[in-house]
Amino acid sequence: MSDKTASVTIDDKTFEFPLKDGSVGPSVVDISTFYSKTGHFTYDPGFTSTGSCESKITYIDGDKGVLLYRGYPIEQLTMEGDFLETCYLLLYGDLPTPAQKRDFDNRVTRHTMVHEQMTRFFSGYRRDAHPMAVMVGTVGALSAFYHDSIDISDPHQRMIASLRMIAKMPTIAAMAYKYSIGQPFIFPKNDLDYASNFLRMCFAVPTEDYEVNPILARAMDRIFTLHADHEQNASTSTVRLAGSSGANPFACIAAGIACLWGPAHGGANEAALNMLAEIGTVDRIPEYIARAKDKNDPFRLMGFGHRVYKNYDPRARIMQQTTHEVLSVLGHQDDPLLHVAMELEKIALSDPYFVEKKLYPNIDFYSGITLRALGFPTNMFTVLFALARTVGWIAQWKEMIEDPHQKIGRPRQLYTGAPRRDYVPIDKRG
Ligand code: SDX
Repeated sequence: MSDKTASVTIDDKTFEFPLKDGSVGPSVVDISTFYSKTGHFTYDPGFTSTGSCESKITYIDGDKGVLLYRGYPIEQLTMEGDFLETCYLLLYGDLPTPAQKRDFDNRVTRHTMVHEQMTRFFSGYRRDAHPMAVMVGTVGALSAFYHDSIDISDPHQRMIASLRMIAKMPTIAAMAYKYSIGQPFIFPKNDLDYASNFLRMCFAVPTEDYEVNPILARAMDRIFTLHADHEQNASTSTVRLAGSSGANPFACIAAGIACLWGPAHGGANEAALNMLAEIGTVDRIPEYIARAKDKNDPFRLMGFGHRVYKNYDPRARIMQQTTHEVLSVLGHQDDPLLHVAMELEKIALSDPYFVEKKLYPNIDFYSGITLRALGFPTNMFTVLFALARTVGWIAQWKEMIEDPHQKIGRPRQLYTGAPRRDYVPIDKRG
């Protein structure tokens, strides 16, 4: 707690509110007693200036383009470690020892299979359902299959549910993909690492052996790490709010998946690739830049801009590098969409409109090109984002549940509707 306070004067009456300092980043004004002291609510649609919680998990400095998971820079974690190491770090707060890493990898591996009834559950979906609709429905249904890990008051069950989510998301995501293309489900293999297992479950067929390209597996693993967590973004806030009512973790993660699906959030990678395909060629870029700047045109450059980053999204830089690695391995360096993306980035970053509004490419700008090159259809892109973000949602949910001061989230409002009025019987209405 800081010894400083913030003063607010309303109708000649001054109220003091304490400041709280974090370990890094802006201090906060604790306004939890604002209504009881002043009789007024604060008002911040979109929470642009509002901290919803105290957290020790992830820190972003939007002006400097910094992203830290438990204090470690994202650049180091993606280049030096692997995704399951990041999962351990986000869940437990520190990097694992070699023995802890082996144990954690083994525990996750042992939970990668799903209940066999899931295969019948899938048969209820249409084959042409959007994979994100399948993910919301299937993950929401997990509490109907895993009753033994939904008692959130039991730390052991909370950890089992966390491991099950991290372990089963790749299996369910791969099943959603296979189901959509009419191919049989591929079981996980315990002798493969997390990313290789996922790529094999997506692209192997029972009729022949499948060897995962280690460079592509490394790229997939890195993409998972880049997407693992990101402070109190819309979907994480959704998970926390759902969890604050005591809902089981599977239902909370399903709520997060539903929120992530929106094109302003995790759906932007699918929307960004569709936009690049619609632009099609470099000579059409100026037309789309003009549309993005036109206040009367709802079009926005998908993959650009961010609520917090007013500098380059550090994940986008790593994503861009990964894109070039994957395309060179696959021999797709001449991907026309990559040329459009690089030219669009160059033009946008020199255009005064984007410079003034600090609209830089975000992680979704390059991820779509990479995922398409890896062989995923566009409608699977947000599924992969949800797969990777599950550990962040779970870590944030766990932190909230274990916070002794947590209470159900229940915002207030500014009411501008009709004041009290009496009912008019229908035979007396105009
Ligand atoms: C993710 O929160 C997170 O951390 C999210 C995420 C995560 O890891 O969880 O990082 C993942 O969601 C990344 C963002 C993906 N979304 C997109 O790429 C969609 C396109 N971007 C925009 O929709 C927008 O930039 C947002 C939603 C990302 C941020 O919007 P804000 O912070 O609410 O900003 P804003 O809409 O108020 O825009 C500020 C100004 C506006 O102009 P003015 O009204 O001030 O004149 O910038 C303009 C906007 O019109 N603007 C854009 C633009 N983004 C903002 N103009 C053209 N193209 C864009 N992409």
